[in-house]
Amino acid sequence: MTAYALCVNGRRRPLELDEQRPTLTWKHRGTGPAGPQTVWVDEHDAVSGTWTRVWSSECGQEERSISVPASWPLAPFGRYRWGVDAVDAAGEDLSAGSDFATGHLGTPWQASWIHRPHLREAVTPPAAQLIPRTFQTAYSAPPSQFRTTFDARKEIVSARLYISARGIYQASISGVRVGHDELTPGWTDYRRRIEYQAYDVTDLIAPGRVALAVTVADGWWSGYLGYNTRRHADQYGTRPELIAELHLVHADGTKEVVPSDASWRESPGHIVMADLLMGEYHDHRFATEGWEDPGFDDSAWPRAEVSAVESGALSGQLADPVRVHSILPAQTLTHRDGAVIVDFGQNLVGRVRLTVRGQARDSVVTLRHGEMLHDGALYTENLRTAEARDSFVARGLRTETFEPAFTLHGFRYAEIGGLTGPLRPEDVTAVVLTSDNEPTGTFQVGSALVDRLQRNIAWGQRGNYLAVPTDCPQRDERLGWTADTQIFARTGAFNADIRAFLTRWLDDLAGAQDASGRVPDVVPNPPTSDNFSDGAPGWGDAAVIVPWILYEEYGDLGMLRRHYPMMRAWVEYVRRSNPDGLWTRNVGNNYGDWLSVDEITPPLLVAAAYQIRSVDLLALAAHHLSETEDERGYASLAGELRRRFAERFLQADGRVVGDTQTGYLMALAWGLAPDDRRLPLAERLVELIEQRGNRLTSGFLGINLLLPVLSSIGRDDLAVALLLQTDYPSWGYSIERGATTIWERWDGYTTEHGFQDVAMNSFNHYSLGSVGEWLYRRVAGIDQAPGSVGYRTVEFAPLIAPELSPVQATFESPRGRIMAFWDADGRASIELPPDTTAIVRLPGTGTIVGPGRHEFTFPPLHAFRTERTPS
Ligand code: BGC
Repeated sequence: MTAYALCVNGRRRPLELDEQRPTLTWKHRGTGPAGPQTVWVDEHDAVSGTWTRVWSSECGQEERSISVPASWPLAPFGRYRWGVDAVDAAGEDLSAGSDFATGHLGTPWQASWIHRPHLREAVTPPAAQLIPRTFQTAYSAPPSQFRTTFDARKEIVSARLYISARGIYQASISGVRVGHDELTPGWTDYRRRIEYQAYDVTDLIAPGRVALAVTVADGWWSGYLGYNTRRHADQYGTRPELIAELHLVHADGTKEVVPSDASWRESPGHIVMADLLMGEYHDHRFATEGWEDPGFDDSAWPRAEVSAVESGALSGQLADPVRVHSILPAQTLTHRDGAVIVDFGQNLVGRVRLTVRGQARDSVVTLRHGEMLHDGALYTENLRTAEARDSFVARGLRTETFEPAFTLHGFRYAEIGGLTGPLRPEDVTAVVLTSDNEPTGTFQVGSALVDRLQRNIAWGQRGNYLAVPTDCPQRDERLGWTADTQIFARTGAFNADIRAFLTRWLDDLAGAQDASGRVPDVVPNPPTSDNFSDGAPGWGDAAVIVPWILYEEYGDLGMLRRHYPMMRAWVEYVRRSNPDGLWTRNVGNNYGDWLSVDEITPPLLVAAAYQIRSVDLLALAAHHLSETEDERGYASLAGELRRRFAERFLQADGRVVGDTQTGYLMALAWGLAPDDRRLPLAERLVELIEQRGNRLTSGFLGINLLLPVLSSIGRDDLAVALLLQTDYPSWGYSIERGATTIWERWDGYTTEHGFQDVAMNSFNHYSLGSVGEWLYRRVAGIDQAPGSVGYRTVEFAPLIAPELSPVQATFESPRGRIMAFWDADGRASIELPPDTTAIVRLPGTGTIVGPGRHEFTFPPLHAFRTERTPS
């Protein structure tokens, strides 16, 4: 089988597809299909068990497999199988198949939103007094346990659970957990849209009494969120709520729906409180044994109440949810001040699973989480108001296992206090959580430093691509900052298939755009935050840049068309706000080149540069979408803005106003200077870097351009020197100080000054890791030729540097797997999937190759040529 990775709207086998006209995509292995392929869809009849063909289409050579819009009237709660039929030149069958299912597709829910029948203040769990509450956690109420039962009298051929929460939920059927997703339904702008999940639970329903039990915690809905000090919790609502529909199809053709309604019962259980930022408290003594089982007597539980709360509409999830990525063992246990500090050897996002042995009844075990140690003690000052503390009261059993389910921490170290028995290393593990985006890239390099850098980038992505793309996972923030997202998106796409993940986020970005075209700096923008509404330069531009990157990466024109109105509206917003030309008004918080060191690039220069960048990309998008008038209009607007940029920011002496590295980087990367004025800019950039002893100064925005621009002006040698730099400030500096993720700031910790200001110092922020795309594109040579989208034309022009040799990278492009290899002994190879070509540029060789594997040799290279003239 050589067609693979069959996806519907970027997802493998969705069960809750909720829109008509889905996009089908697949990849190829081997030599690929000889002629056209047929893609087909069959619809299932649950009662008769038969399949009927509802759609098929022949795909031409060109863009087959990359984005095939399918159209037939999808039915709600339908089950479909689909596939592609093709043969290769040798007549071998390449066909492959998959399946998916639809959700409500706009049909009304029969279920009601339900919540506990009284307000937060009226619930006092019996155990609360044993775990000391703080000012913040005093506010949190126990999660709700909802349950109902019904009789499964007839034979069931299909059972599907459609479920969501205002909060986060975990469900079970007759005591067996449903699915293995975490923190569902994830975070969206709940005022606009709440996602639901669907699960095939046919195997969980045995004849007789069946119990449906769901725990719902505050989560993003009613827990603490972000850092609005005036109002942390209760952002969207005041208590968690549940909605669920169990759809049963019987063998005799009848159907039945078990909906959440006022007949369900509700009670708090052994979870005393659960909050994403603060942590989770359990009291094992009050566990309601068997509450998820059919036979449990719930007659003393009050009935749930049907909610009158308004929120956004329910729709099927657009991307795969958060899942457990891996379990990491403890590396070391250190005893200190009566507690044990566990080092997991990796800054990660998730939670601790702990088994205690012979822990005294009524004793309280507390876990605190931190990214760093300070003089051997857990360092938590940088968490700000996030308590990141999990506690439980022991029941006094021989062994007891504790693992929170509705919280999440960013940590490398956990401090465990209150143990009354011994702790063995195997009793404590870290459970790593991430949005379950399929991995796409591997990058191996003959430099331990760069290898660690790549791993740090990947770990940063894992921890921060969690429900939404966040800035950081540990402190009271964890927001979908738009600049962080746009700057890292392409690196993200090399490491994982993020098509669905970022499309889902873009849906919220588009939803947050107001009538004037303005977008906020954070998405979703928490309801009570009032400081982020005016997209800043480089931040709001995510509305243009992210859709463009997704188009270049995945080649789906339909997706670009869908985002085009948002892209255009943003550019028009900036234009209307600045009738005189350059972007000087409505610059929002104008953060500039955020967290640069020693140099501050004039924020209005950054604004003008991003303004031009967005207009350029919009003109390009218009070109691809054949919006000819727009293309012409925006190209001429860009020309006009460039003239003004040159007038205002390019000095007669050949310098850029401000004379900062980032200023030159933007001017060179985005063609902001006329061709005949580029050379002095390139020379000055190099001079500035060299004067500092090959050190950088850029912050979040400039850093993404630094190494690519140096490569583009013929200074790969300087790019490699910066890559391998270990003096402050550099990636290497943090790595030599033990970094296992990308730090928010170059000086998050320095030998000279210790920790940076606790007010803003995360050790897991991916923005400065946006250098990752250059590693794949330039160091490994897996890049696209100018004008190529979806990796139709690869440009294999790797940066051959002995210090990095050997380099091998693989990348699951949307057409199939690409592999690139080179070493300094003069060997290189590239492997391409069907429907692609590569322009190969190696020392002394230039050629064009097609699908398959190709080997090359070139003269061994032992050092960089010393003379290089910027071009
Ligand atoms: C966030 C950044 C964000 C910045 C904007 C910080 O608090 O962590 O990632 O882009 O604010 O100023």
